[in-house]
Amino acid sequence: MGNFEVIIYEKQDNVGYVTLNRPQALNAYNLQMRDELYQVLAAIKDDPEVKVAIFRGAGDRAFCAGADLTEFLTAPSPTIARQVRWERDVWGLFLSITKPLIAALHGYVLGDGVEIALCCDIRVASEDARFGVPEMGLGIIPAAGGSQTLPRVIGRAHALEVLLTGRWINAEEACHLKLVNQVVSRDDLLPAAERLANKIKTYSPVAISYAKQAITRGLDLSLEQGLELETKLGDCLLTSLAGKKLN
Ligand code: COA
Repeated sequence: MGNFEVIIYEKQDNVGYVTLNRPQALNAYNLQMRDELYQVLAAIKDDPEVKVAIFRGAGDRAFCAGADLTEFLTAPSPTIARQVRWERDVWGLFLSITKPLIAALHGYVLGDGVEIALCCDIRVASEDARFGVPEMGLGIIPAAGGSQTLPRVIGRAHALEVLLTGRWINAEEACHLKLVNQVVSRDDLLPAAERLANKIKTYSPVAISYAKQAITRGLDLSLEQGLELETKLGDCLLTSLAGKKLN
């Protein structure tokens, strides 16, 4: 892996740790972070040693305060912006990972910060976390999947309210809305994420991956199609288990 400047990527005991690392700018998501994140996500996806990954933000104040406003609308042209997005579809890559991803969220979780968290499967927040989707105030709409992932997680009405009003929500309300799974003290944030990761990694990576796919892909299908998917994945799993026994 290359040397990164704005992301720290570490591996320990089958857990990948991804730290957004621009604390002086509240971990705002800039082009460099996009490029580094793309490489890190590809590594997580392909590395059999990594069974689960935890995403967090460096510093005391933020997980991520959204897109870097100093780069806002700086692409030379919409065509170039589209081309870059096509070449480096970070969000598509994020959502294609079948390993469990856990977000450990503290402080400001805004814009792209919320969207990164939504690309993860389980979200743990510390009591001081504050969530917001401020795109309307900038005259734009979410561009990192948020318009699709947010309603899938908190439902249409709440997603529309949070997005259209730009209202911030605290950790307690985020938990009530099911945006986060649990709220813990700041000191317990990483340990809580690690407890989840350490439990998950004890199970078969294939079964874990199929279970994630059954749920995440199934949510976009009708019940009937979802049940077919479950059967198909279950059959594949049994076949692979039977194959292992034969060998
Ligand atoms: N892009 C670039 N820099 C950012 C940033 C962003 N999204 N958010 C914060 N920063 C920088 C600030 O410019 C400041 O840098 P400086 O110390 O060099 O001046 C530093 O991070 C600390 O932020 P500051 O605004 O001083 O902290 P605060 O506690 O007063 O306010 C926020 C915190 C999050 C309320 C405020 O920074 C903010 O509104 N940020 C923009 C959020 C946003 O709209 N994101 C885009 C979503 S699409």
